[in-house]
Amino acid sequence: MVLEGKVAVVTGAARGIGRAIAERYTREGARVVIADLNEAGAQSAAGEIGGDCVGIAFDVTRQESIDALIASVVQRYGRLDILVNNAGLFDLAPTVEISRESYRRLYAVNVEGLLFTLQAAAKQMIAQGRPEGGGCAGKIINFASQAGRRGEPLVAVYCSSKAAVISLTQSTGLDLIKYGINVNAIAPGVVDNEHWEHVDSMFAKYEGLQPGEKKRAVGAAVPFGRMARPEEIAGLAVFLASPDADYIVSQTYNIDGGNWMS
Ligand SMILES: NC(=O)c1ccc[n+]([C@@H]2O[C@H](COP(=O)([O-])OP(=O)(O)OC[C@H]3O[C@@H](n4cnc5c(N)ncnc54)[C@H](O)[C@@H]3O)[C@@H](O)[C@H]2O)c1
Repeated sequence: MVLEGKVAVVTGAARGIGRAIAERYTREGARVVIADLNEAGAQSAAGEIGGDCVGIAFDVTRQESIDALIASVVQRYGRLDILVNNAGLFDLAPTVEISRESYRRLYAVNVEGLLFTLQAAAKQMIAQGRPEGGGCAGKIINFASQAGRRGEPLVAVYCSSKAAVISLTQSTGLDLIKYGINVNAIAPGVVDNEHWEHVDSMFAKYEGLQPGEKKRAVGAAVPFGRMARPEEIAGLAVFLASPDADYIVSQTYNIDGGNWMS
């Protein structure tokens, strides 16, 4: 129960990695708000997780929605201790086919939404101040990706958006540590969930593959020998939110079965 009594928001947690984190945080004693565009999914995930977990509607691309999220968390629990900036979108296209619509959509969620949710959470954490007796005022965990470490031919927009997350984590973390707010990031490799079914079908279209072929190939190429399960990412999110990680500032951690060494 390393997060006993903590109040956590996990964005995009109706399914996938975010959901696994919401479940682990709840088991570790946190009060968890699942904030997702998919309101019904957020509520049913919260219901299945049980404990002190609720699901609410949230659109990371709208400032009013970000402000309403923080206000409703503070109204409900009186504080905010942990933000997991997990909501993310993927798309791919050859360079000559990238559309402005796809670019704007991905950057609105993966970069702009992440930054302004981080900002709103940080303002609340600064207002709360550090707990008596020391410790940190808050923890912010951003979702980057191995895609942010290296480009890929069909994935320019997503890869660059995740590189931006790594950079935003560095700068905001250096700025906010004076208030006792830790900002760090997680860079997963390939995680087997609904998201990857969609990714697989897009690669199939552009690379002339059979359904499932890309997924099998990327899994087999991981040094560990397979894709990750969402719950295998959640432990790192618990650690980064815990007091054991108080001295960790502005870092991005790979959790990818050995794919990258940066
Ligand atoms: N699955 C992978 O292989 C993988 C690898 C590396 C990084 N990541 C990153 O990890 C994070 C979680 O990935 P996942 O695979 O669990 O994703 P997912 O697609 O399964 O879930 C994303 C969630 O975000 C929500 N969402 C989308 N737009 C939103 C918006 N505007 N406002 C609020 N919520 C919104 C969706 O409803 C969904 O529930 C993402 O940031 C993703 O880029 C995933």
